[in-house]
Amino acid sequence: MPEITFESSDGSQKKTVNAPEGGALADLCDDHAAPIPFSCRSASCATCHIEVIEGADALLPPEEEELDVLDAVCSKPPKYRLACCAKLRAGAGKVIVRAQNEY
Ligand code: FES
Repeated sequence: MPEITFESSDGSQKKTVNAPEGGALADLCDDHAAPIPFSCRSASCATCHIEVIEGADALLPPEEEELDVLDAVCSKPPKYRLACCAKLRAGAGKVIVRAQNEY
């Protein structure tokens, strides 16, 4: 079943969401009160920096603005992404992401 699990940076909070239609991670976080912090929501602050622990292939590739911010924080996809930019593919499998900043 397509699902994504969002974990807080210390792993103490987790939220698993079924997302058969895929969609923006930010929307899924908002709709399900997932423990991922956001600030600018427009690929400039890196507050929403996440590690992709499992299922990186289920995310659509990053666009240039996301790549620029990841580069600035010395991270590279597919292991690291920005939750305000990343989108889940429709029909994706299991994905687990962990916040890199405190929620
Ligand atoms: S919330 Fe600022 S880069 Fe994602």
